[in-house]
Amino acid sequence: MWVFTLLLVAATAASVSCQDMWWKSAVVYQIYPRSFMDSNGDGIGDLNGIKMKLPYLKELGVDAIWLSPIYQSPMKDFGYDITNYTAIADEYGTMDDFDALMAEAKRLGVRIVLDYVPNHTSPESTWFKLSQNRTGKYTDYYVWADGKNNDSTTPPSNWISVFRNSAWQYDDTRKQFYLHQFVIGQPDLNYRSSYLREEMKEVLRFWLSKGVSGFRVDAVNMMYEVVNADGTYPDEPLSGNTNDTASYDYLNHLYTKDQNDTYTVVYDWRDVLEEFGKDESKIMMTEAYTDIDLMMRYYGNGVRNGSMPFNFIFLGELSGTSTARNMTTVIDKWIDKMPANTVANWVNGNHDNSRMATRHGVNRVDAMNMLALILPGVTITYQGEELGMTDGNISWADTVDPQACNTLDPVNYWKSSRDPARTPFHWDATKNAGFSNGSSTWLPVASNYQTVNVAVEKAAARSHYKFYKDVVALKHTAAVTSGSLGKTALSDNVLVVTRVPSSASEKTVVGIMNLGSSSETVDLSKVAGVPQTLKVVASGVACTLNNDDTVQRNSVTLPPYCAMTFQNAAATIVAPFLLLIFTSLIQLWRQ
Ligand code: GLC
Repeated sequence: MWVFTLLLVAATAASVSCQDMWWKSAVVYQIYPRSFMDSNGDGIGDLNGIKMKLPYLKELGVDAIWLSPIYQSPMKDFGYDITNYTAIADEYGTMDDFDALMAEAKRLGVRIVLDYVPNHTSPESTWFKLSQNRTGKYTDYYVWADGKNNDSTTPPSNWISVFRNSAWQYDDTRKQFYLHQFVIGQPDLNYRSSYLREEMKEVLRFWLSKGVSGFRVDAVNMMYEVVNADGTYPDEPLSGNTNDTASYDYLNHLYTKDQNDTYTVVYDWRDVLEEFGKDESKIMMTEAYTDIDLMMRYYGNGVRNGSMPFNFIFLGELSGTSTARNMTTVIDKWIDKMPANTVANWVNGNHDNSRMATRHGVNRVDAMNMLALILPGVTITYQGEELGMTDGNISWADTVDPQACNTLDPVNYWKSSRDPARTPFHWDATKNAGFSNGSSTWLPVASNYQTVNVAVEKAAARSHYKFYKDVVALKHTAAVTSGSLGKTALSDNVLVVTRVPSSASEKTVVGIMNLGSSSETVDLSKVAGVPQTLKVVASGVACTLNNDDTVQRNSVTLPPYCAMTFQNAAATIVAPFLLLIFTSLIQLWRQ
């Protein structure tokens, strides 16, 4: 009888749904809509293109797609300058297209996460125009100030834009300067206005009502600036890092970012998300390139919940020369700082940084993808990282990123350009990499598209795509979702990551990588939690073992740059259950 009860308990436990916290162990795939898939031949990606490619994403196994901004915009910063938060950009489609995309994504079980850009709008927005004319509540929607000594040619303070030069722009209509921490076409909203704060919550509600699963929040730590008691703005001290007076790096940004009030606004947004959290927990991922302790405050303050701050440690602190020990150090750095009961995340790339395959070298693509996928928490994959896409080569003539254009430097512009990471996605080896059937594309396609693309990688016996997909398939196993984490650097080149589930009936996951150019044979019996016999479940492009091959843990050979993932060869569930049934039969027999 008790055997039956035990089986019943096991069955009931297995049916308990994790729907509520779907993002606790999830893959969020970032789509840069302009460069993903063009459905109408204008050379620019669009919503219908994304809809066409949903089956690809479903097959890849991602849980959610995060769409970089899709809203009405003059595209001075490619959608991060928004005219209307609740309208779709003409070049991307219509609201009907969005609704159709939502419906299809829902049908396929792929969640949609939107980009929320709270720090600024476009000056073409109605809000800005009303504010320029000092109309009612809109008067204070933006950060306006008189020039120093009331001079219309001297900005209110020495503040510098992230994209170079003064962060203040004189406006002839209002006869005041407005603040723009990014391009001139991105006036900063004023979060000291309670009307604005409420209106921005309505934007969240608009999209949540349409069924989106959450938001990625843009440049969140730039929302507040310090203002003096008399309404003027304090100059920032020099950083001492550069003599380039137009560079953002020229100043120490004490007064224009990371202000305390920011966190309250984020916690307030979390409350709005909770209003819609009955059926599924909504995800909020905040972007703040800042000190790790300040990042942690986004998670919450112990009393109020907040967001999941993007973990940019892989982006900023690892490179192609990092050792296995460097890797364990940066992993610990994040995990050790996280408040209790919060979810980790691992960002390998995005549209603002050089691509992962370029930063780490193509040899390390599988290793970095595997790491981000089997560590606990959320994996954030930028489109194309699953293929090992590298940065495109963009000439000065083809450069469109304002961050590069503002350098006015046809020789060194590429050092600040984000265009190379934004080139069109590689679907196949046909014209424009299968991205568009138009005569040209908004950015040139990278030159290696004929060898690095979805079609080729699906057909190949081994590919980054196949490896990525095989590792993604483990994301929802008990081991990866909630197993204990072990990481051991066996040498400078060999890193082993173990995920051991709490229940012996579930399989352990072991990830191993060789970062070096020589073959390595390692003894994994020295590493806690590694099962005796290992079965290959994902084998990278540089490996020789195939999926389902088995290997004994005391001698595992890794060719140069090989990354592999294993599970226990025999299902551990069989042994304890057989033992259980056997002993109960003996007991019955004895009675
Ligand atoms: C974020 C975006 C970036 C944009 C900036 C201003 O950093 O990721 O692309 O230029 O904010 O919105």
